[in-house]
Amino acid sequence: MADRKVRTVTLQQMKREGRKITVLTAYDYPMALLIDRAGVDVILVGDSGGMTVLGYDTTIPVTMDEMLMMTKAVTRAVERALVVADMPFMSYEAEPAEAVRNAGRFVKEGLAHAVKVERGLPSLPAVRAIIDAGIPVMGHVGLTPQTTVLTEGFKVQGRALDAARRILDDALALEKAGVFSVVLEAIPSALARVITDRLTIPTIGIGAGPNCDGQVLVTHDLLGFFDRFAPKFTKRYADLATVIGDAVGQFREDVIERRFPGPAHAFSMDEETERALLEE
Ligand code: KIV
Repeated sequence: MADRKVRTVTLQQMKREGRKITVLTAYDYPMALLIDRAGVDVILVGDSGGMTVLGYDTTIPVTMDEMLMMTKAVTRAVERALVVADMPFMSYEAEPAEAVRNAGRFVKEGLAHAVKVERGLPSLPAVRAIIDAGIPVMGHVGLTPQTTVLTEGFKVQGRALDAARRILDDALALEKAGVFSVVLEAIPSALARVITDRLTIPTIGIGAGPNCDGQVLVTHDLLGFFDRFAPKFTKRYADLATVIGDAVGQFREDVIERRFPGPAHAFSMDEETERALLEE
């Protein structure tokens, strides 16, 4: 039987053949099951899960243990997609040996197929060490929330010429270091086109326009599940917050009005036992 699994080389082949790559985030078992079944190529266990499922204001506080728990739940569900685990803030910056140990935990304990590391030049020592240890790395340039949130907040990057050049240099340096793909976040479409044309590895855009080799969205944004924060570049395909709110409200009313549970949701016992029980 043909091997249907998506691997890092599959993504590179898709770029060569001009086939678009689809990437979505997942942080738990049921969502990963549905996304994998729908045929999405890559599932990213993003540190965005710190905001969408753990309720932090930013991705800064997310820990290795939290990321590992989410990664394990996702890999239990996935049969086809490539699973990439996001290295959380301060899990790779201090020294390359620590970056390798933490990336190793994602692969050995979390059963992820690859890790993602934010930023270009400053992250190169960590990226090189992880790749040398045999673990595939996805890069991430442009808006890199783990650090930009501390200086500028969530803001489009690379609009000025020198800033655009720096992002291009970051992407080129990551490709040279051996990453298999690079996320381009919140940069002008024209810059994303230049980077995509210059790199032989696939670019995955989020808020980077239509010219990237693939697109990634945060699943909770796409589903309208997490409505506290909605970046301009998100396209909402459903309104789960309303669907869930309505369903929960109906349950509450049904219980208060004694419409639930009905006979269909309850268990009976044989009449004789029931009579004996009542007599007691
Ligand atoms: O954490 C995340 O979900 C990400 C994507 C936005 C690329 O890094």
